[in-house]
This record gives sequence, C-alpha cells and structure tokens, in this order.
Amino acid sequence: MKLTTRIGAACALALTLAAGIAAYGPDARAQTDVIEQRQDGFQAIRKQLGAVKSTVESGGPADAVVAPAEAIAAYAARIPGLFPQGSETGGDTKALATVWSDRTGFEAHASDLETKALALAEAGRSGDMAAVGAAFGAVGKSCGACHQDYRGK
Ligand code: HEC
Repeated sequence: MKLTTRIGAACALALTLAAGIAAYGPDARAQTDVIEQRQDGFQAIRKQLGAVKSTVESGGPADAVVAPAEAIAAYAARIPGLFPQGSETGGDTKALATVWSDRTGFEAHASDLETKALALAEAGRSGDMAAVGAAFGAVGKSCGACHQDYRGK
C-alpha cells in the first residue's frame, strides 16, 4: 500500500469512528422521541384492546377482533426495540430499571403478548365467541403481568 493510500484509509477510519461515536453518544432528543413513540404505541394497543372488549361485551361478531388482535401482536414484536439502552431516563418514562437489568424477562413478556394476541386473532377467525372471550382475558393478563414488574406508577 502506498503511503498516501494509507493516510487516506486512516482518515476514512477516523471519520467513521467519529460518526459512530456521535450516533451512539448521549442524544437526549432521540431518547425522548423513542419514549414518546413507545408511549403512543401503548396507547394505541390500549385502544385496540378496548375495541376487542366491546366486541366481547356485545357478543360478536368474532371476526371483528382479528384486526385489533393482529395490530397488538405486531406492536408486541416491536416492544424490545422501543426500549434501547439509554432510554431509561428522559421524557416522562414510567419504565422501571428492570426493563434493562432483566432484559430476558422483559423480552419474554413481550413475546408472550405476541403469542396471546395471535391466539386471539385465531379465535376471532374461528368464529367461536367463547374462545374469543378466553383469549381476550389471556391478552389482558399478559399486559398486566409485564406492567407489574417493568412499569412504575
Ligand atoms: C413487555 C412488557 C409490556 C407489555 C407486554 C405491555 N406493556 Fe404496557 N407498558 C410497559 C412499559 C415498560 C410501559 C412504560 C413505558 C414508558 O413510560 O416509557 C408501558 C406503558 C403502557 C401504557 C401507558 C403509555 C403512556 O402514555 O405513558 C399503556 C396505556 C399500556 N402500557 C398499555 C398496555 C396494554 C393494553 C398492553 C397489552 C395489550 C400492554 N401495555 C402490554 C410494558 C409492557
């Protein structure tokens, strides 16, 4: 390698590193954004769950729960990514430190919600309102179980 090429490569590397540090460094604005994003997402699934509850209370139609259940499942899959390192403080987050200290448990709860929400969608497709009612209860329990250990008041 010629000296000039080497210097060029070293400069490119330095620039890449600098860009990397800037991207991973403390960026308060980005953290506040992700906190807002996840809180908005949770508000949205709360509404979806409310729609399911209305369907259960009015006795059907069962297939009306399919879309909200799938939306909840899709959001559940995104939950871990919405709690990056560094977003434990800032904004007005209610997330407890356990989200990061017990990551395995937290992700297991997110995955449980996805499973339960997909089961609810399946029950909706089956047309069986008793199954829908039971699956709705399981989704509600899954929300509560995670809040118990990972969300503050
Ligand atoms: C894997 C854990 C987990 C699961 C599962 C979960 N949540 Fe949460 N939820 C949290 C955490 C953590 C917060 C606090 C987020 C924050 O303030 O940064 C939260 C916040 C919320 C909020 C308040 C949002 C706001 O505006 O501040 C609502 C509403 C909510 N969740 C509803 C639900 C519903 C409904 C379900 C089930 C369909 C659910 N959550 C499932 C962990 C979970």
